[in-house]
Amino acid sequence: MKILVTGGCGYKGHVLVPKLLNKGYEVIAFDTQWFGNYHEPHENLQVVKGDVRNIESIPLAGVDCIIHLSSIANDPCGDLNPQLTWEVSALATMQLADKAKRLGIKHFIFASSGSVYGVKDEPQVTEELELKPISEYNKTKMVSERVLLSYGDDMTVQIVRPATVCGLSPRMRLDVSVNMLTMQALSKGRITVFGGAQTRPNIHIDDITDLYLFLIEHPQVTGIYNAGFENISILDIANIVTRYIPVDVIVTESNDPRSYRVNSDKLLATGFRPKKSVDDAVREIIERFRTGSLKDEDRFYNLKWMQQTVLAA
Ligand SMILES: NC(=O)c1ccc[n+]([C@@H]2O[C@H](COP(=O)([O-])OP(=O)(O)OC[C@H]3O[C@@H](n4cnc5c(N)ncnc54)[C@H](O)[C@@H]3O)[C@@H](O)[C@H]2O)c1
Repeated sequence: MKILVTGGCGYKGHVLVPKLLNKGYEVIAFDTQWFGNYHEPHENLQVVKGDVRNIESIPLAGVDCIIHLSSIANDPCGDLNPQLTWEVSALATMQLADKAKRLGIKHFIFASSGSVYGVKDEPQVTEELELKPISEYNKTKMVSERVLLSYGDDMTVQIVRPATVCGLSPRMRLDVSVNMLTMQALSKGRITVFGGAQTRPNIHIDDITDLYLFLIEHPQVTGIYNAGFENISILDIANIVTRYIPVDVIVTESNDPRSYRVNSDKLLATGFRPKKSVDDAVREIIERFRTGSLKDEDRFYNLKWMQQTVLAA
């Protein structure tokens, strides 16, 4: 089975691709490589540098399944250049789905985002709730979902709304909450949290990537699934970090109102089970930092890096 992973050189892609190779799949990691490429060579891996907006450049021949991860992957980056954001994160998704249908590709897995719900008062955010996305990023995800669902008669369409991901990847992200707070404690000797009371769901990078493997193996699981398992506050995350690195936690005012508890019962009903926790992610990051092979670098922060490189070009 041949699998195309768009965004295959991203934070998730770098953990997912080796797992796919271990399972014996042939893999194409297609990516602009804005954040580099750290994949080890492998006989079944083709790493292709390219832009999903250029649909003809995507090597789709012989592909059986697409895992679509490429996007301008957070709110502040999405706001930098809304046109780019819509082209990459929504229009390219539509073209890719259309091309997939024309080529007879029968399986499409999409990384949406739990942020499509916007600000919710309901105690439990389930898949049935109305979507009120706030940012350009969230809106492109909502529209992409709708487009992909319209291809449900032509192919298996599986849409995941992941919580904020945490944990280690060869292409690290330190702009996601758990990783960011852990790195603050390690490199600055203190943690600053904005607000702190907002509750957000989390998922370990090993679990979200295992979920994509699970979906490949369970094509009968179609439609939209939340994927977030630990609904805890930012302050709770800071307190987990301080169990291992006893630093001061400074709470300042936040202008980000999003606070929600995601319910993933629908996903759990498919038989999928997460295996790791925020605590695991924190410990793994601390251990890696202490080996000297993880440092606090600009390229691990999407906004900083896009401003310095992609958009400065
Ligand atoms: N990390 C999270 O917490 C999280 C949570 C929910 C959803 N998601 C979604 O999961 C997906 C992967 O996220 P990630 O954390 O790995 O982000 P990431 O930014 O590390 O990876 C995205 C990758 O897409 C690539 N890319 C961007 N524009 C492209 C283009 N035009 N053509 C080809 N490649 C392009 C980038 O170079 C990057 O490697 C994204 O769609 C993101 O929105 C992530």
